[in-house]
Amino acid sequence: MLKINNLSKSFNKDSDERIDIFHGFNLQIEENKCTAIIGANGCGKSTLLNLISGSLMADQGEFILKGKDIGKLSEEKRAIHIGRVHQDPSMGVSPTLTILENMSLADKKGEGFSLRKLVHKGKIPKYVELLKDLDLGLEDKLDTQVKYLSGGQRQSLSLVMASMKFPDLLLLDEHTAALDPKTSHVVMKKTKELIEKYKMTTIMISHNMKDAIDYSDRVIMLDKGQVILDKPSKDLTEEELMDIYRKKLVEHLM
Ligand SMILES: Nc1ncnc2c1ncn2[C@@H]1O[C@H](COP(=O)(O)OP(=O)(O)OP(=O)(O)O)[C@@H](O)[C@H]1O
Ligand SMILES: [Mg+2]
Repeated sequence: MLKINNLSKSFNKDSDERIDIFHGFNLQIEENKCTAIIGANGCGKSTLLNLISGSLMADQGEFILKGKDIGKLSEEKRAIHIGRVHQDPSMGVSPTLTILENMSLADKKGEGFSLRKLVHKGKIPKYVELLKDLDLGLEDKLDTQVKYLSGGQRQSLSLVMASMKFPDLLLLDEHTAALDPKTSHVVMKKTKELIEKYKMTTIMISHNMKDAIDYSDRVIMLDKGQVILDKPSKDLTEEELMDIYRKKLVEHLM
C-alpha cells in the first residue's frame, strides 16, 4: 500500500509563472491492485508519478510505501522499490545495449556492478522464461541491440525489466500512448497479465477511458490537483467518464 499524505508541490515558486500543482493532497493506493489515473492534459498526473519516484522532490508531504516513508530518499534509492515504464519507448531501455544486457542491468538494480561483468550466463534461462511470456519472440533476439526493436517490443521489454525484481510499486505513465492501436492493445493485455501474475501494486496513467476501465481495478480522475472521481472500475462506463470530461471542459471554457 502507498499512502500519500499532505502533499504540496509548486513550480516556478518565486516568479509570476508560479503553478501550484498539489496542495494538501492525500491519496491511498491499495496493495496488489491496479489503479488508473486519468485527467486532462496538464492536471498533474505525470508530476504525481515523478514525485512518487523521486524524479521530483515534493515541497511537503509523506510517501509511505509499505509502512516506510520513502519521501526523503533519492530517486536511485526509491528505484529499488519502484519500477517504472515511461511514455517514450526510448526511455526505459539502453538502446545501444542488447536485450540480454538490458535485462542484466535491470536484474542488478540496487546492486553495485561493473559493465564488464554485466551478464551472468546462469541467469539467461530466467530471462528467456520472462521474455517467452511476452509472446513476441524476443527470447530469440537476446543479442540484438534494443535500438533495432519496434516501439511495442521496447515497451514490452521495459515492462518486463520494470517488473522483474517484483517492485513494491509499478508506475506506468501512458506507456502505450506512442504505439499504434493494435500494438497498444497487445502491450496492455501483457501488462494486465503481468500485474495479475505477480500481484503488483500498480499506478497506471492513461488518456484512453476504455483502457483505464478495462485494465484497472479502480479509476481516479484528477483535476486541478484534486481527486474529483474515485470509483471501482467495474462500476464505471466509458460514457460516464466522457460525460465528466465534457462538463469539465465546459467549466474551463466559461
Ligand atoms: N519540471 C517542471 N517545471 C515547471 N513546470 C512543470 C514541470 N513539470 C510539470 N510542470 C507543469 O505542471 C503542470 C502539470 O504537468 P504534468 O506533466 O504533471 O501534466 P499531466 O497531467 O501529466 O499532462 P499530460 O496528460 O499532458 O501528460 C503543467 O502545467 C506543466 O507545465
Ligand atoms: Mg503526463
